[in-house]
Amino acid sequence: VRMTVDLEERSYPIIMEAGGLQGLGPAMLDVLGPVPRAVVVSNPVVAPLHGAAAVASLQAAGMQVEQLLVPDGEVHKNIATWRQLIVSLLALRVDRSTPVIALGGGVTGDIVGFAAATLLRGVPFVQAPTSLLAMVDSAVGGKTGVNTPQGKNLVGAFHQPALVYSAMETLQTLPVQEIRCGLGEVIKHGVIADPDLFEVCATEPGSILAADPDLMAQLVHRSCTVKSEVVSADELEQGRRAVLNLGHTVGHALETVLAHAGNGLPHGECVGIGLVAEASWAVRRGTCESGVPGRISEVLSGLGLPDSAPSLNSQDLVAAAGFDKKARRGKLSTAIIEAIGKVQLAEIDAEEIPEIFHFFQGSD
Ligand SMILES: NC(=O)c1ccc[n+]([C@@H]2O[C@H](COP(=O)([O-])OP(=O)(O)OC[C@H]3O[C@@H](n4cnc5c(N)ncnc54)[C@H](O)[C@@H]3O)[C@@H](O)[C@H]2O)c1
Ligand SMILES: [Zn+2]
Repeated sequence: VRMTVDLEERSYPIIMEAGGLQGLGPAMLDVLGPVPRAVVVSNPVVAPLHGAAAVASLQAAGMQVEQLLVPDGEVHKNIATWRQLIVSLLALRVDRSTPVIALGGGVTGDIVGFAAATLLRGVPFVQAPTSLLAMVDSAVGGKTGVNTPQGKNLVGAFHQPALVYSAMETLQTLPVQEIRCGLGEVIKHGVIADPDLFEVCATEPGSILAADPDLMAQLVHRSCTVKSEVVSADELEQGRRAVLNLGHTVGHALETVLAHAGNGLPHGECVGIGLVAEASWAVRRGTCESGVPGRISEVLSGLGLPDSAPSLNSQDLVAAAGFDKKARRGKLSTAIIEAIGKVQLAEIDAEEIPEIFHFFQGSD
């Protein structure tokens, strides 16, 4: 399957291949024209699993290929890793036309994308995501960056890829826990704008958790369609793009508070719980169908994702949400669920933020 992210001169294709990475090289030639050399950047977990297939495909397409590694894990998504990567890329004497390919999950994609954005003021960037989260979320949309001690993703750039190439076969080696992480965002995309996507999540949990390639290609395609339509309308996040934060006002606060308490939950699981909590808030506001929170809970449970969090103080959550960089001038720009597949964007007063966390009050 193939689709286009529509951004005028920065438009680019997303290819969803049910098989492996064999088509990566030809797809790059198609988008970039003749490519004499390219650099593949991966990490020590993904490179041994999928590096050879990627490199073989590029070589078969006539490219001279160099390979670099960045360390695995969110803790390494920082300025030190970015610095090391750009120094290594410069040492390889890349020029402005040399594509840099990120082969890995969202951490690798964000670091490599930021290096591609900044190196020589921007070199061509190709995303070859190998985690479900990266395929449905981080590889699409052009946000790149790294974390600092002050917070996540505080240093970065918008740098759209020239191509996103998602090979479903790579998901066969992804731990099921990581599949679940990506599913939090898939369900989010369903709730935002695609009731059929939401239904697929409800009816095919077994095949989804087994990463059935055809089904995954469908989930990734539908998810990317939702995300790319939003991104096309608002590339630099000045308005509509905030709907993609659905579930994240609560999700991020939950992630922070649970991590401090020493029983952290993965991001995707926090987003899932966030969707239920934010849907409950929308019902209490009177703007959402009453069955929606329960329906989201069912789908999460079917896929083995939690739909609530154990004993939490809602005041701690509100405090954690206050530091969200998206809150500005006493207003929070947020999406409010109306039905499965329908949200509205609203600016709410900071005073209303505690209401969003009402869901957790019973468990104080
Ligand atoms: N740029 C954006 O718009 C955007 C959007 C959402 C999330 N993100 C970022 O994405 C990151 C999370 O991404 P993630 O969930 O992919 O985490 P990740 O990159 O850490 O991947 C999770 C783990 O799975 C491993 N892995 C990846 N593919 C594999 C495969 N095919 N087989 C076996 N192991 C594999 C990784 O090496 C890692 O150990 C966060 O840093 C987040 O901030 C960015
Ligand atoms: Zn997320």
